Amino acid sequence: MSTVHDESANSSCSHHQGNHESAHASCGHHQCNHDRPLQQVKNIIAVASGKGGVGKSTFAVNLAIALAKTGLKVGLIDADLYGPSIPTMFGLINAKPEVAGKNLVPLEKWGVKLMSIGFLIEIDTAVIWRGPMVSSAIKQFISEVEWDELDYLIFDLPPGTGDIQITIAQTIPLTGAIIVTTPQDVAIADVSKAVSMFRKVHVPILGLVENMSYYELPDGTKDYIFGHHGGEIFARTQGLAFLGSIPIDRAVRESGDNGTPYMLSHPDSATSRAINQAAMEVVRRISITTAAAEEKQS
Ligand SMILES: Nc1ncnc2c1ncn2[C@@H]1O[C@H](COP(=O)(O)OP(=O)(O)O)[C@@H](O)[C@H]1O
Ligand SMILES: [Mg+2]
Repeated sequence: MSTVHDESANSSCSHHQGNHESAHASCGHHQCNHDRPLQQVKNIIAVASGKGGVGKSTFAVNLAIALAKTGLKVGLIDADLYGPSIPTMFGLINAKPEVAGKNLVPLEKWGVKLMSIGFLIEIDTAVIWRGPMVSSAIKQFISEVEWDELDYLIFDLPPGTGDIQITIAQTIPLTGAIIVTTPQDVAIADVSKAVSMFRKVHVPILGLVENMSYYELPDGTKDYIFGHHGGEIFARTQGLAFLGSIPIDRAVRESGDNGTPYMLSHPDSATSRAINQAAMEVVRRISITTAAAEEKQS
């Protein structure tokens, strides 16, 4: 299979030579005539982090909802094969996708098309995935699922920089990655590994979201439980766009656990506005770089 990270496929846009955040965007490679998977998907975004438990899935789910609310066609792939969260977070624990021919039809809820390993196996089954199985499962999510046309397809990645992340970064023409971190030093130390991995494979980083930034006390003061602005400072020192801070909010956790995304259960809260702002900034950054690429091509 020819992929966008295949040197010959890229020779017309030379995006493999770019080593900056807009490396793909500047060549508009998702519009180049490469023989690439997911041609019918305009933008593909990976939500990643160095550590687990920092809120990737929470952000990915609410990003998907924020985009779908504006009328965009959105898909979400739960690429965390070892710890799928999407079935729980979308309230679809026992749901099973239909089969059409040799393909799976993604489930759909609240305007978001969904695929997760959690829809295919029992949720409490321990799956022992070996490297090649991981790669082939991910490839099936891409080529054997009927995604149809989408404006955005979001990958909720597992933590770290292992087989799954590398398979995705090398198989899929990612428009870019969003990095999620909490402010504390241990999370930041890990997140810098994720940043270097994306840079190494020339996937542009759209920006960084700092989650669990603070807890707002009843008197309105902010308690910076996990440290003060660690994510924001890291973004600045790495030259990454800072997409915003999301506070620790009990309702965010509850919404995740009870299967109604926070953006839907608390649409008007300050936390929802912060998530929405981050989502719109992602859209803005993608559209600017796409427009610049189109101008270059014409
Ligand atoms: N801003 C937040 N406030 C409160 N709880 C949060 C917040 N973000 C995430 N959580 C909770 O923290 C836990 C881990 O989040 P999750 O999105 O599953 O992380 P990851 O995908 O990075 O492993 C979940 O129980 C989730 O509901
Ligand atoms: Mg997760």
